[in-house]
Amino acid sequence: MALARKRILIIIGGGIAAYKTLELIRRLREAEAEVRVVMTEAAKQFVTELSVASLSGGKVFADLFSLTDETEIGHIQLSRDADLLVVAPATADLLAKMAHGLANDLASTLLLATNKKILVAPAMNVRMWLNPATQRNVATLQKDGVLFVGPDDGDMACGEYGPGRMSEPAALLIAIEAALRHDTAIPLPVSPHVGAVDLSGMRVIVTSGPTHEPIDPVRYIANRSSGKQGHALAVAAAAAGAKVVLISGPVVLPDPKGIETRHVQTAAEMLAAVEAALPADIFISAAAVADWRVAEIAEEKIKKGVETTAVLKLAQNPDILHTVAEHKTARPRLVVGFAAETSEMLDRAQAKLARKHCDIIIANDVGAGSDVMGGDENQVTIVSEDKIQALPRMNKDEVARQLIARFAELLQTKSGRGSHG
Ligand code: C5P
Repeated sequence: MALARKRILIIIGGGIAAYKTLELIRRLREAEAEVRVVMTEAAKQFVTELSVASLSGGKVFADLFSLTDETEIGHIQLSRDADLLVVAPATADLLAKMAHGLANDLASTLLLATNKKILVAPAMNVRMWLNPATQRNVATLQKDGVLFVGPDDGDMACGEYGPGRMSEPAALLIAIEAALRHDTAIPLPVSPHVGAVDLSGMRVIVTSGPTHEPIDPVRYIANRSSGKQGHALAVAAAAAGAKVVLISGPVVLPDPKGIETRHVQTAAEMLAAVEAALPADIFISAAAVADWRVAEIAEEKIKKGVETTAVLKLAQNPDILHTVAEHKTARPRLVVGFAAETSEMLDRAQAKLARKHCDIIIANDVGAGSDVMGGDENQVTIVSEDKIQALPRMNKDEVARQLIARFAELLQTKSGRGSHG
């Protein structure tokens, strides 16, 4: 069961749709989710604390100041313990507070303090929903990564018709399951001053994610790369002051804030985007570029025939890392490749360093059980010509910060400072 043991923090806002949230709580518990509930003052006008407590099987939290003494559970803890925060109904007032970062009651404080994804189910009068102020807030929240379910069109309790009805509990349940299928943790933004690392004035190009190599109009060859490590490296380099161009294959991650991100599908497109982004001081090739593409892409969807086997003819893709490392006129001062290996990791990383003419290879073991591809953690070894340095297993954001610190150090020892501004 997808919801079993998942911790859901439900925030009930003050709207007539709050009665539907009682049904949602009942269904979540039926699915063996662990539910905690916070009510706003206004919510108590629509459903009673007693009915919410009986359905959720626990205490209802409503008062910020009873939580600030931290005797039972602090408000920070309450917002962090959950796997997902669900605001249902999300009133116009709650959406406005979220969009502007207000924290003047328990619900809004938890929403601001959380490190997890938030799913909101708006419910309000049609005019309130369509009001440009609400629409602006919705756009802001969507940009911030807040997930939305509804509102639905229909007759409203106030007698009007249009969008504004809270989605039904069944739809909310589906949206909650869908949200939980992805990682719901939101990492802390990297501090703008990562120790003494200073890449200000430097230009860094990072490739990230997989490439998709089309077979026909609907099919493609891909790999399991999530882009998490590449994107984290782009964020860490930008936090150290660099001007970063992130060239990303197809990933589900949002574009990192404030970083110029270019989207590509295939290895050929990625190479073209990298070449267009040169020159740079550092090139980090974190993408899992497909080694092969289909030699002749079918114009029509390939049909199943009588044959039980089919043959795909593959052609080798350009090696982007090698091309950049060998660049005649614009070779970056530091060229970094990755070696994702399933065996004999270090030997292969050293061979790759020589073969691809890069300065550093970051070796990681992506063998069965390592959980690196798509996971949140990584254990990497920095292989350069004269040194092998293994870092401990860490969160990919921390790996990125440490790698960027090491790259900055290497650049300094290489040739003193100077840049492509
Ligand atoms: O040879 P291998 O694919 O294992 O090398 C991995 C490294 O080379 C990674 O840094 C990857 O981004 C890069 N690479 C590339 N272009 C390719 C294949 C790999 O830039 N076509």
